[in-house]
Amino acid sequence: MPEETRPITKWDSFTMVVPESKDKLFHPPDDLQRDAHVPDFNSYLEIYRKSLEDPEAFWKEVADEFYWKKPATGPMLQYNFDITKGNIYIKCMEGAKTNMCYNVLDRHVKDRNLGEKVAFHWEGNSPEHHLTITYQQLLSRVCRCANVLKKMGVKKGDRVSIYLPMIPELIYTMLACARIGAVHSIVFAGFSSESLCERIMDAQSSVLVTADGVYRGEKLINLKQISDDALEKCGEKAPCSVTKCLVVNHHAVRTKGGTSCNKLQVNMWWDEAMADSPEECEPEWLDAEDPLFILYTSGSTGKPKGVLHTTAGYLLYTSLTFKYVFDHHHDDVYWCTADVGWITGHSYITYGPLANGATSVLFEGVPVYPHIGRFWEIIEKYRVTKFYTAPTAIRMLMKYGQEPLQKFDLSTLRILGTVGEPINPEAWQWYHEVVGQGRCPVVDTFWQTETVGKMINKMLLISESDNSVRILLNLHSSPCFYLCREDMPWPGIMRTVYKSQERFESTYFRKFPGFYVTGDGCRRDKDGYYWITGRIDDMLNVSGHLMSTAEVEAALAQHPAVSEAAVVSRPHKVKGECLHCFVTLKDTKEFNQKLVEELKKQVRDRIGPIATPDFIQNAPALPKTRSGKIMRRVLRQIARNETDLGDLSTLADPKVVEVLFSQRSEAA
Ligand code: WTA
Repeated sequence: MPEETRPITKWDSFTMVVPESKDKLFHPPDDLQRDAHVPDFNSYLEIYRKSLEDPEAFWKEVADEFYWKKPATGPMLQYNFDITKGNIYIKCMEGAKTNMCYNVLDRHVKDRNLGEKVAFHWEGNSPEHHLTITYQQLLSRVCRCANVLKKMGVKKGDRVSIYLPMIPELIYTMLACARIGAVHSIVFAGFSSESLCERIMDAQSSVLVTADGVYRGEKLINLKQISDDALEKCGEKAPCSVTKCLVVNHHAVRTKGGTSCNKLQVNMWWDEAMADSPEECEPEWLDAEDPLFILYTSGSTGKPKGVLHTTAGYLLYTSLTFKYVFDHHHDDVYWCTADVGWITGHSYITYGPLANGATSVLFEGVPVYPHIGRFWEIIEKYRVTKFYTAPTAIRMLMKYGQEPLQKFDLSTLRILGTVGEPINPEAWQWYHEVVGQGRCPVVDTFWQTETVGKMINKMLLISESDNSVRILLNLHSSPCFYLCREDMPWPGIMRTVYKSQERFESTYFRKFPGFYVTGDGCRRDKDGYYWITGRIDDMLNVSGHLMSTAEVEAALAQHPAVSEAAVVSRPHKVKGECLHCFVTLKDTKEFNQKLVEELKKQVRDRIGPIATPDFIQNAPALPKTRSGKIMRRVLRQIARNETDLGDLSTLADPKVVEVLFSQRSEAA
């Protein structure tokens, strides 16, 4: 998408503006504004200025809402953010002792009398399956699970890999880890056995928690089988770190399916283990900087990075951003449609909402099963007030028009949010007008796994004038700008790449000393608003899922027919971006439909269905510089059919480009 048509939504004092129709202003309803935590622009500026001018007092006030077994002995934030002055480090509330699980559960049940309040309305893949879980129930199940993990030998600091679908047990397990000081590493249950194995090996987890199987829409995914394969793969490379596997009988019990195979000798069934597990479990009192979780995100080298987050800072940042960005109130019913396997789910399904004592919907299924109005039906059923989803979901649902929505009562909705990728104007308008019926502000939130919480938000009634986010001209003076965060960390920023401080520093801090670099392109318009233009490193954003070109290329290159592969992004109506792969085959191999299918399967099996390429093109040769570097910029333009290629003087053999253009239409 050319930069000028990039989407932007913003708050201009009291008004929301869609840029390409500058005269079109959207005013939030008066009552929403009146009752908001941040009712007007001046109140916002006050909070914002305090956060910059006196961060110590600002974060202390946030911390005062929570329980600290021991108060901090050091300042709220200690850090070195400048690589030229030594190693990068960030510490929040040194000396303090606390427990995340205590703060998000016990505190509400014991100190705030919220035990009977609903924490989650769980809605299964099938509308017939649903559960209501109160804070009290959540606490006792988490404690039971914590005791089960302890019995399995899990201790403070041990890693636990979790490969579960969107079921309550996923929340129980992650909070149980937090309670006993174990570090959870959740792997999205759409990842392949290879990806799971890679993440287990990097984290060296001692326990894997998975389920027998799950239906997504009409498709049964045999998670236990995938887990067994993953563990077998781990064992092929080195002694497998996982010694025990806890298996939720979800498919067997809830959907009455058969149980899956049981190759490991160390399996424990969830129901049996929980049945005789005590309901009390004293939380482990952790240091403020003790690790809370590792979450793997794609890295541009292809090897995923274990983004490490710690306890106190993560608590402060997710709770504060959740409260303000969604203007959370006690009687809200909040629904974030993300999967807990991604950072959005960690921060804005589990920790942020629970820290605020919120009531949320937890949805296992897909937006169009068993009918295309499922999202809207759920909003009506639970009387959802705040709804947070991804542009890709909006674009997919837009295809069905207004009719599916008209059957349901969406009048409870107050605020709509988006995350994950740039939202295009058509999707924005549809979201605002059709879903929000013109009355709900749309809050577009830009952030990352690494930043843990929202960095740029179009907050309720707030104009974005955050001048602590800087845009730096890319050193190679391309028309892109890097989006960076200057000078000072915030409590929720990642602490390191697990087991690789060097990678942490070189990825985020070396390019522009003194800044955290997001890897996104951005420009600021004359009014001071930020336009995110997408990734400017070798990353792709497919349906809001970040992946690296290198990991897809490595998967393709594993096929015996492929000698070399290069992958670029190409615009896609629903997914935002999709994968266009150029493959150079070995001499004797023929490019045909069968091979294309094999290659797509190869990527799916190696990484997971989210990475399935849309286009595979035969490339007799790839455009390379004289030093042999693939010119991805040129490939991107070929994939997009942009014929104005600019300067090709560094290309070793310009004829390659003509050939690729002429064969573009044969990409399948
Ligand atoms: C992209 C997801 C434009 C961006 C929370 C970022 C966005 C990457 C937006 C992080 C947005 C996320 N507008 N782009 N509102 N939100 N992105 O780590 O490229 O899965 O760097 O975290 O998603 O993806 P991640």
